Amino acid sequence: MGITVRKMDLSDIPYVYQEELKIFGKSLGEKTLYNEIMYNDMSRYFIALVDGRRAGYVGSWLTLPNAEILNLFVSEKYRGLGIGRLLMDEVIIVCNDNEIENLTLEVRVSNLYAIKLYEGLGFKNAAIRKKYYENGEDALLMVLDLGVK
Ligand SMILES: CC(C)(COP(=O)(O)OP(=O)(O)OC[C@H]1O[C@@H](n2cnc3c(N)ncnc32)[C@H](O)[C@@H]1OP(=O)(O)O)[C@@H](O)C(=O)NCCC(=O)NCCS
Repeated sequence: MGITVRKMDLSDIPYVYQEELKIFGKSLGEKTLYNEIMYNDMSRYFIALVDGRRAGYVGSWLTLPNAEILNLFVSEKYRGLGIGRLLMDEVIIVCNDNEIENLTLEVRVSNLYAIKLYEGLGFKNAAIRKKYYENGEDALLMVLDLGVK
C-alpha cells in the first residue's frame, strides 16, 4: 500500500467538504476552502493518498511566529494506518522550515484517539477551553514547542 501526502488543490474540495460533513457534521464550506487555497498566504493544507485515493486531510495556518492546526481527519476506512501521524508530520516539517515556535490545536476532551496521536508527537496540555464546542463540550488546548528561541 502506497501512502503519500501532497498539497491540497482545488480538485480536493468536494472530498474535504463531504468528509467534514460526514465526520464532524459541519464543514468550513466549499467557498471558504476555495478562498483558503487561492488567497490565504498563511494556510497550508495537505491531502493524504492511499494508492492514489484520497484518505485524509489536515489544514493549518502559519500565524508567525506560531502556527495552528485547523482541522484533521482520516477517512474512516483508512484509520489506524499511520496516516493521521503522517499528515501531522507534514505540518511539523513546514513549521520547522518556517522557524515556527509553537504549534497549537484544540481537541474535544472526549477524543482520546486524537489526543493520543498528539501526545505521541510531543504535544502537551496547555489549557481547557470551557464549553468550546456547540454541544457544550470542553476543548483541550494542546501545544507543541518546536524549540526555536
Ligand atoms: C484522530 C485521527 C485523525 C487519527 O488518524 P489515524 O490515521 O487513524 O491515526 P494513526 O494511524 O496515525 O495513529 C497515530 C496514533 O494515534 C493513536 N490512535 C489512532 N487511532 C487509534 C485507535 N483506533 N486506537 C488507539 N489509538 C489510536 C495512537 O496513539 C496511534 O499511535 P500508534 O499507532 O503508535 O499507537 C482519526 O481517528 C480521525 O480522523 N478521527 C475523526 C476526526 C477527528 O477526530 N479529528 C481530530 C480533530 S482534533
